[in-house]
Amino acid sequence: MTRTITIHADKPGAAISHEMWGLFFEDINFGADGGLYAELVKNRCFSFPKPMTGWEKISPSKARGECSVMNHEPFSAVHPHFLRLTSQGGDVFGVANEGFRGIGVKAGEAYDLTLRLRCTSGTPALRVALYGENGLLLEQIKLEKLPSAWEERKAVLRPTATDAKSKLYILVDGVGTIDIDLVSLFPQNTWKGRPGGLRADMVQALADIKPGFLRFPGGCIVEGSELDKRYPWKATIAPVLERPLLINRWNYEFLHRPAPDYYQSFGLGFYEYFLLCEDIGAAPLPIINCGMACQFNSGELAPMNEIDRYVQDALDLVEFANGPVETEWGGKRAAMGHPAPFNLTMMGIGNEQWGPQYIERLTVFLKAFRAKYPKIRLIASTGPEPADERFKYLWPKLSALGVDIVDEHCYARPPWFFENAHRFDNYDRKGPKVLFGEYAAQSEKPVSPNNVNDLECALAEAAFMTGLERNADVVAMAAYAPLFAHREAWQWSPDLIWVDNLSLVRTPNYYVQQLFSTNRGDVVLPTKLSDAGDGRVFASAVRETKSGDVIVKIVHPGETVEFTTIALNGASAVLASTIVLSGENLAVHNSFEEPNAVVPRHAAVTASGNSVDVRLEPRSMTVLRIKTA
Ligand code: AHR
Repeated sequence: MTRTITIHADKPGAAISHEMWGLFFEDINFGADGGLYAELVKNRCFSFPKPMTGWEKISPSKARGECSVMNHEPFSAVHPHFLRLTSQGGDVFGVANEGFRGIGVKAGEAYDLTLRLRCTSGTPALRVALYGENGLLLEQIKLEKLPSAWEERKAVLRPTATDAKSKLYILVDGVGTIDIDLVSLFPQNTWKGRPGGLRADMVQALADIKPGFLRFPGGCIVEGSELDKRYPWKATIAPVLERPLLINRWNYEFLHRPAPDYYQSFGLGFYEYFLLCEDIGAAPLPIINCGMACQFNSGELAPMNEIDRYVQDALDLVEFANGPVETEWGGKRAAMGHPAPFNLTMMGIGNEQWGPQYIERLTVFLKAFRAKYPKIRLIASTGPEPADERFKYLWPKLSALGVDIVDEHCYARPPWFFENAHRFDNYDRKGPKVLFGEYAAQSEKPVSPNNVNDLECALAEAAFMTGLERNADVVAMAAYAPLFAHREAWQWSPDLIWVDNLSLVRTPNYYVQQLFSTNRGDVVLPTKLSDAGDGRVFASAVRETKSGDVIVKIVHPGETVEFTTIALNGASAVLASTIVLSGENLAVHNSFEEPNAVVPRHAAVTASGNSVDVRLEPRSMTVLRIKTA
C-alpha cells in the first residue's frame, strides 16, 4: 500500500526563524583545551596543581642536570610557576611536553613556537625539537644568546613528517641554567589564519552546518561544582596569558571516565566566542551563572543579598557584546579589536537549574533585565529532564514570570524521540517559546560510556526534529548536545563530532542536524500523512521563500523499502531531488577508520504536476526538494 503525504502549500503556517537549528558548545570531552582551541602544549604555564603534568624529564644517560619548578620572580603573576633547567653538561638535558594525548603535526605545515625564558647562569643554548611517536626527529631549532632577564622568544617549526602523537622537546645544550615559562605551540593553519586561534577543521565542521545560534559555554561548566568554580566570563577576556587556570568539572565528574589533566585555560574565551559566532553566522546564545552551583554537585547557593553581583555580571556581558565603545565593557570589546557590536539578542539564565531557589534568583535577573535591556530575550531552565517533577514545577512558574523562552533538555533512548515527535502539537501557543537546548538519543542509556552515535539514534533525532519543525510557532530553537569529543579524552558519549589530533569524524547525527539546517526553509507547510497500515513514517514540510522550493523531510526507520506519494496542494512541481541518509543496519556508525559509512547521498526524482513519487530507503531520512512552477 502506498502512503500519501499531503503538503498544503496553499495554507502556509508559522515562520521558521534563522535561529531555529543551532549548536551547543561546552568544554567537555576536551572540546576547548585539546580541541577547538588550537594550542598544542598542555600545561604551558606549569601551573596545574601538579606543575609537571604533561611534562616529562628527558635525561640521556650521559646528561647531568636538574629540573625544578620555581615560583620566585615569575614571568607572570597570574601563573606564578615556571620551570628551571640546570645542566652540568655531558649531553642535552631537559623536558618534553606530551600535548593533549599527543601533539598532532602535519608535514609541510608551519607551527608557531613562543616561549618565555631567561638564562641565569652559564652560556647554554636551548634546543627545541619535535619528535614523532616512534622517536623520529621531525624538526629541531636552536635558540642562542639567551637573555638574563625574562624575554619572549619566537620561532617557526616545520615538521618533516605528519604525526598524530609527536612531543615537543625543550633541551639545554651546554652548561648553565635556563628558566622557562608559557611555552606555546600553535599551527599557523588556524581558522582564518588567526595567530593563537581555533582549529580550522573543527570550525569548518561547525560552519558547514550553517548554525542558527551557538550556545556557550555550556552546560554544567557554567555552574561549576561549587560557586568558586563557575564559569568566570570576565576573566576570559583578559590578555590570553593573563587568563586564570581553572579545573574543569569534567576532570573529576565521572569516576568511570576520569581526566586528571583536564583544566580550562580560557584561550577560547568570551571574545573568541563572539567572534566565532560572527564568523559562522550564528546568533550568540550565552548562558550565565544565576548564583547556583551545579545541582548534581554541591548545589551551592549565592545568598540573596549577594545575588546582585551575579546579575551585574550578566548585564555587563550584554554591554561587552553590544555596548557603545564609550561604555566600560563596550570599550574592552573595542580594545580587543571589535568596536562594532556583536548583536547579542538573548541570554540563558542558569543552565540546568530547578526548585524554588532557582525561581527566587531568576526573578531578580528578570526584573533587572526588563529594566535595563527589555529587548534581550531571556531563557530559563526547566531542569535536566523533559517531564519529571522538577519540570512540572518549573514550567507554570516560568510561564507566570513571563520568561521569553524555556529551555528543555532530554537525553533518552531512541524510542523517546520517536514517541515524542508529536510532543509540541498541543503546547500552549500563547505561552513562552521553547528552546530544546540539549538533546541526543542514547543507544544504550543516558550517561553510559557504551553509547554510540549510530544510525538508529540519528533517525530518532530526525523524527523528533520533524515535530520541532512542524511546531516552529512554539519551538524557536533546538540544539544537539554535546558537540565535540576527543577520541582519547572524552567523558560523555554520544557526541556530534569526534576528533583526534589530526582529523575529525562527522556522525550520522551531525548529518541529520546539517540536513535540517541547510534545508531550513522559512515557512512551515501543514503536512498530513495517510495511514499506510504498517510501519512508522515521520514528515514535515517547509517553503523556502527565496527559491520558492517546497522541502519535505521524511524519516523512515523501518527495515523495508516504502513507496510514498507526495501530494502537493497549491503548488505544482517541475523538478525534484532528494538527499538520503541511510545505512545497511541501524547500528552502523561512522568511525576514524570508516568515516563515510553513513553520509548523505543525492539523487534526482521525476516530478511534474501535483504529485511526486518517492521511494523511501529502509532506515532512512530523506530530504525532498521540489522546485515549483
Ligand atoms: O551535555 C552534557 C551535560 O548534560 C551538560 O553539561 C548538562 O547541561 C547536561 O546535564
